[in-house]
Amino acid sequence: MSKERSCFMENTKKRSFSAIQPSGTITLGNYLGAIRNWVTLQNEFECIFAIADLHTITVRQDPSVFRKNSIQLLSMLLATGIDPEKSLLFCQSHVHQHAELAWVLNCFTQMGELSRMTQFKDKSAKHANNVNAGLFTYPALMAADILLYKPDVVPVGEDQKQHLELTRDIASRFNNAYSETFVVPEPYIVKAGSKIMSLQNPNAKMSKSDENVNGFIAMTDTEDVIIRKFKKAITDSDSVIEYREGKDGINNLLSIYSVVTGKTIEESVKEFDGKGYGDFKLAVGEAVASHLKPIQQRYEYFIKNKDYVTEIYSKSAEIAGKIAESTLRKVYKKIGFLQK
Ligand code: TRP
Repeated sequence: MSKERSCFMENTKKRSFSAIQPSGTITLGNYLGAIRNWVTLQNEFECIFAIADLHTITVRQDPSVFRKNSIQLLSMLLATGIDPEKSLLFCQSHVHQHAELAWVLNCFTQMGELSRMTQFKDKSAKHANNVNAGLFTYPALMAADILLYKPDVVPVGEDQKQHLELTRDIASRFNNAYSETFVVPEPYIVKAGSKIMSLQNPNAKMSKSDENVNGFIAMTDTEDVIIRKFKKAITDSDSVIEYREGKDGINNLLSIYSVVTGKTIEESVKEFDGKGYGDFKLAVGEAVASHLKPIQQRYEYFIKNKDYVTEIYSKSAEIAGKIAESTLRKVYKKIGFLQK
């Protein structure tokens, strides 16, 4: 184990845990809204990242597509700058303690709590023919993911806040019933402006499941495609480039531009003073394409070097498994299971 890796056992820095599902195309929205923040988090925290593949099967998956999505997500995370020398990056299904602790936590989670989860309500409406028990108990698995590693913080977006709140409740409930076992983690809210909206409907979040492919930018879209999609972006009927309420389309483009160029919104507005929407949209498209280019090149490298990626996630899972096992042992002991 390298020196960097061993810090996972010594706990010198504060720790962060997060996970993302390998459920398909990775969009600019996923990157600007979440993944990019994970990369910078590595400077401050000891970071543990997982791909939440156990969560993904709450919706039926085609095995070969699922495998492809997982390796692509791992490759993309590495390409964006998740550094395996600093952080752990593994598959949830490779660390069996996640499923085991999830069972225990299921017994500390109330039906009423799970029924109040808005994601469950949304997803069960969307997949009405497959409202399975896993979809319902999904938050208990997510709590297990987190609590196994005793992280200080969990970076989450708006949509996962309710699940994290429940995780905190479950952790406190267990701690109160037995004794201090889990760390009750704090949400780490990423700074505003990182919620990227659809290019075709600036009131909806950018999503890979958008029926209109022009609504989202895939991380692997070519420069031409990116520029074409930005050119088609929905704006409004006036012609002033400014950031204000009621200009959702322009606001979204300004946010994207400012994040990928590192300029503030004010600087960006100034830069386009007097320019038309056409020029502006082209500039945003070009800026995004050039920001993504080096990421895409590294992505190609990882996709072609699958063995290397496999080595990274396998080693990480081994280390993660040790941390997870130590937590699980304590939990089992406190519950009163006989010692092996
Ligand atoms: N449920 C999260 C999502 O769909 C993914 C996830 C699983 C997660 N386990 C987690 C996020 C633990 C944060 C912490 O986005």
